[in-house]
Amino acid sequence: MADSSAQEAESHYFTHEPAPKDLKANTTLAREFIARHAAGGRRVVLVTSGGTTVPLETQTVRYIDNFSAGTRGATSAENFLANGYAVMFLHRQFSLLPYSRHYSHNTRSFLDFMEERDGQVVVGAQHQDEMRGVLRQYAAVKRENTLLILSYVTITEYLWNLREVAKLMRPLGPTAMFYLAAAVSDFFVPQDRMVEHKIQSNEEFLGAEAGATTKPPAARTEGKSLIIDLEPVPKFLKQLVDGWAPEAMIVSFKLETDPALLVKKAQYSLNKYAHHLVIGNLLTTRKWEVVFVSEMDGEKWIRVPPNRRTKSFSGVQSLVGAADPLAKQDGFKVDESMAADGTVPQGEPAQEIESVIIPEIEKMHTKLIDRALTRGGA
Ligand code: PMT
Repeated sequence: MADSSAQEAESHYFTHEPAPKDLKANTTLAREFIARHAAGGRRVVLVTSGGTTVPLETQTVRYIDNFSAGTRGATSAENFLANGYAVMFLHRQFSLLPYSRHYSHNTRSFLDFMEERDGQVVVGAQHQDEMRGVLRQYAAVKRENTLLILSYVTITEYLWNLREVAKLMRPLGPTAMFYLAAAVSDFFVPQDRMVEHKIQSNEEFLGAEAGATTKPPAARTEGKSLIIDLEPVPKFLKQLVDGWAPEAMIVSFKLETDPALLVKKAQYSLNKYAHHLVIGNLLTTRKWEVVFVSEMDGEKWIRVPPNRRTKSFSGVQSLVGAADPLAKQDGFKVDESMAADGTVPQGEPAQEIESVIIPEIEKMHTKLIDRALTRGGA
């Protein structure tokens, strides 16, 4: 059961922060998607991806953003699809998308993959194999209708979508999963403290921006300075676990920059919210290593080999678990981040770490479903 202070915080937030205009369209799509895959017996995962924004003005010119390109979410979505899941991909508008991510947001344009041959525009010979592989996966997903793409921009749009889709997923019971990779704002400007118009920087026009707020604006100019006084976003993970989706598997992420804090903070989150898995990652090493913290398996590091240029890690295969003998041979710190001694790999890893993360999560999900079935059948 959700506690009453969390319920009050939820009720206050959703009463005061208006729902996004496309919420109804999104929930209609989600309802139909969930019903179809529930009938087909497929597991459904909601993947959240990208950063949420905090607008400072109602007619938004300025906003605070959260770090995330959407790589973790988009790559994970592809791996969930490859492992048989139906995926609802709730992402920050214009952040990376599954499959197209291979050809977007790069220093290279998609046009660099094309060439003209006998008057026809075709994919360059050197890209044929890779693009054929991506295209076949994408075509299969479209054919089977296993990917639903939904988007948000602001923290409030994100939370409204998360709550409504979570409630729709409730009938799926333990076969549903939430994989919360989005970088969610911890502080925001409530609607009743937001100015309508662009905040002015020119002293001649100060005060002209004060719009419809009944309270002192959270973001305003005083003299030549911009003052921003944000309020905390309620921790909705609590509501998700206890109220919106109590039977689903819930995976949250913990992003830190200090290696000494990562496991402690992940453990703290697991204890506080009592969900199934916290995946800890550091900003600098997140493509090469993550740590799983769960009641089921304790603390478990997952690593992939860096590229060949990083000499000290050459020849290492992907590693799962603290007790892997390879890890010791190759100088991995088995129970702490590689960043603890200042080692930060450069370039790209030789293998995407999500291709190791998702099968591990799938195994945990199977165990949780089996446990629920045993309980239900007993
Ligand atoms: O996209 P990339 O560039 O690949 O980067 C991926 C990533 C580093 C952003 C991703 O792997 C990651 O760590 N995402 C979570 C970042 C984050 O928001 O961490 P947090 O410590 O602020 O929040 C922890 C958890 O609490 C999150 O799962 C979030 O869903 C939840 N939360 C956060 C704020 C809030 N008000 N309510 C919440 O429930």
